[in-house]
Amino acid sequence: MLDTQHPLLVIGGGNMAQAMISGWLNSGFITAEALCVVDRHPECIEAMQKQWGFAVADAMDAFKDRAFAMVMLAVKPQIVSQVLPELTEHFASANPLITSVAAGVPIAVYEKGSWPDAAVCRIMPNTPAAVGEGMSMAAYNAHCTEAHKSLVQSACESFGAYTQVDEDDLHTGTAVAGSGPAYIFYLMEQLISCAMSEGLDEAQARLLVTQTVKGAASFAQASDLPISQLRKNVTSPNGTTQAGLEQLMCADLEQILQRTIRAAKTRSEELAA
Ligand SMILES: NC(=O)c1ccc[n+]([C@@H]2O[C@H](COP(=O)([O-])OP(=O)(O)OC[C@H]3O[C@@H](n4cnc5c(N)ncnc54)[C@H](OP(=O)(O)O)[C@@H]3O)[C@@H](O)[C@H]2O)c1
Repeated sequence: MLDTQHPLLVIGGGNMAQAMISGWLNSGFITAEALCVVDRHPECIEAMQKQWGFAVADAMDAFKDRAFAMVMLAVKPQIVSQVLPELTEHFASANPLITSVAAGVPIAVYEKGSWPDAAVCRIMPNTPAAVGEGMSMAAYNAHCTEAHKSLVQSACESFGAYTQVDEDDLHTGTAVAGSGPAYIFYLMEQLISCAMSEGLDEAQARLLVTQTVKGAASFAQASDLPISQLRKNVTSPNGTTQAGLEQLMCADLEQILQRTIRAAKTRSEELAA
């Protein structure tokens, strides 16, 4: 449990941090009194800070007297190794659980850059966390206890769904779910543009597309049927869906998506090297 005696430090207050912080505060996973945020541009999180009243500083030493139970690194991957020496200098004595959402940075980097026997967890969330619909995967090192895992699971479930994976599978998870919202947004952009070119206005087109994507995802999650069966159930012989799907299926979407996922996975592996 996190509380004022066992607080949480977030390093980096950008897009991903803000999505997670709103999930934590809105769900009651943490109170503002138990949350501290460091960003070298504190103004980037000023609106949230004013709304909730958590502590924000532009450098870690502002919080050096607090014994954090958990630290969340939410900086860009290339910044991680710069941050670890300062983290160790100020906070190693309290031995907080080190968690990080930095894409591709291996657990070994945190182990090498922090203190002996540090508990380290890599989390790969995605930005729908901002509306409580995130998808997070977590991988742990050998020093993480069941209590650490349960804490991370609660943190992730406060902004969506959670699953534990082996560290190697984070590359695939990053390619599918971390980057995934961008693929879906791109498809939505295309559908909206098609709907508009067929005569709908932008607001109508956006409503039709966003609600259809949301409805299809909710329907698929609520059903035990294979997704392919749900598709077949919509596809009456010789009907409108069949006519549309015949065009979509001859575009070899499967190969395009395989290339998409492989490219994102390769990039994740490159970042880890
Ligand atoms: N966005 C996503 O969809 C997503 C999904 C999953 C995982 N992630 C991971 O989340 C991490 C953050 O991504 P983001 O999109 O939130 O990035 P971001 O918006 O750039 O946020 C990072 C913030 O950290 C600040 N910062 C840099 N160095 C710092 C330091 N030494 N101390 C304190 N703050 C520092 C940055 O300031 P400057 O602008 O000055 O550098 C920036 O404000 C990345 O590692 C990414 O791989 C992102």
